[in-house]
Amino acid sequence: MIKNWKDRFSENCRAYEGYPIGKMLQYLSDPEIISLAGGLPSPDIFQRGGFLAASEKVLASDSINKVMQYSAIPGEKSLLDAVIKFLRRDSISIAEENLLITTSGQHGLDLVGRLFLDPGDIVMVDRPTFAGAVVAFDLCRPKYIGLDIEKDGSDIDGFRAKLEESKQNGAMPKFIYVVPDFQNPTGITMSLEKREKLLDLSHEFGVPIIEDSPYRDLRYFGDSLPSIFSLDQKRSGKNVIGLYTFSKIFCPGMRVGFNIGPAEVIKKMCNIKEGNILNTPKYNQDMCCAYLNDMGLESHLENCRNYYREKLKLFLATMQEYFPEDTGVSWTKPEGGLFLWATVPEHIDTEELFFEAIKYKVAFVPGWQFYGENPAKNHMRLNFSFSDKAQLTEAVKRLAQCIKAQL
Ligand SMILES: Cc1ncc(COP(=O)(O)O)c(C=O)c1O
Repeated sequence: MIKNWKDRFSENCRAYEGYPIGKMLQYLSDPEIISLAGGLPSPDIFQRGGFLAASEKVLASDSINKVMQYSAIPGEKSLLDAVIKFLRRDSISIAEENLLITTSGQHGLDLVGRLFLDPGDIVMVDRPTFAGAVVAFDLCRPKYIGLDIEKDGSDIDGFRAKLEESKQNGAMPKFIYVVPDFQNPTGITMSLEKREKLLDLSHEFGVPIIEDSPYRDLRYFGDSLPSIFSLDQKRSGKNVIGLYTFSKIFCPGMRVGFNIGPAEVIKKMCNIKEGNILNTPKYNQDMCCAYLNDMGLESHLENCRNYYREKLKLFLATMQEYFPEDTGVSWTKPEGGLFLWATVPEHIDTEELFFEAIKYKVAFVPGWQFYGENPAKNHMRLNFSFSDKAQLTEAVKRLAQCIKAQL
């Protein structure tokens, strides 16, 4: 009998513990707790009627056998076409060889990690950065160079200095990972100037950019900025790999997303997909295709924006009301996405505060989970998309009571 399984785990997996956010869910079983913790879109935007009708069509007798079969690994032809069209409206022009359907954004990140990272390789990120990216990359045991994100996005001068340093040390980062639109967890958007400058760095130092874009279509205020991918296309560059998911604009239960990039990168990712999940379920791809082609895409997106804009406005106004300046609490004011990032006085550790907040029946994600290395402890991520308006107001009220008790 094998007594110690741990000794048999691979070195990559031995110390690997997965997603810390998932482990917090056990504390949130009390139905009276209002959770601002998850990254859940609201079920109010799921288009249930359209989904059911499309589902019936997809499962109609002549196509059900195909749905129940294996299907093409790069993705269903109909979905590839629909995605190419979806991107054209965002000034991105690609061919099929530049596109791989993924089983959601997390899968897309996993493919990036597996393709590029060996143990000890360096990944350049913002501080904070998306926790799910760190979890995906960590399986390959990289090291991180992180620089504090600024109001208008990544600290480009800091990135430059670190790239110079890395060049001198002979150990360049394998890639730079960013979420330029309404970053998870801060809600910060990278300015156009910084997008261009980041591309300059990428070309100058020969380091690819991974642009993760789940929230691009969820802008509630201000004008949309071009994606880094599209800016690179204008330079005839091939330096950017784009990651997308339909989880936030359609529904996360569908688990469909896609990666775009140079043909040789996409081909390799497809090879990895062959080994890790084979094909994305055809039913899910067909449903995604229905969302894109038959369910009024633009008006759906407009509805999502109108719906979340109201929630964000209310949330920001309530924060303003319950956290006057003398509390020392500050927060970002995002123009889109699903999150804002709050900073509490330095003596408060938000991991400890989380357990206090549970007593006040409110939850958030402690900020330490969003760092590649050396986490800061006095931040929290707050989600405003899932709870209803009355809950959002009540949650901020409870959070304020909890934090004021710590001051
Ligand atoms: C920046 C970012 N990338 C990727 C993902 C993963 O998306 P999915 O839920 O489709 O796996 C998320 C989800 O929250 C995200 O915020």
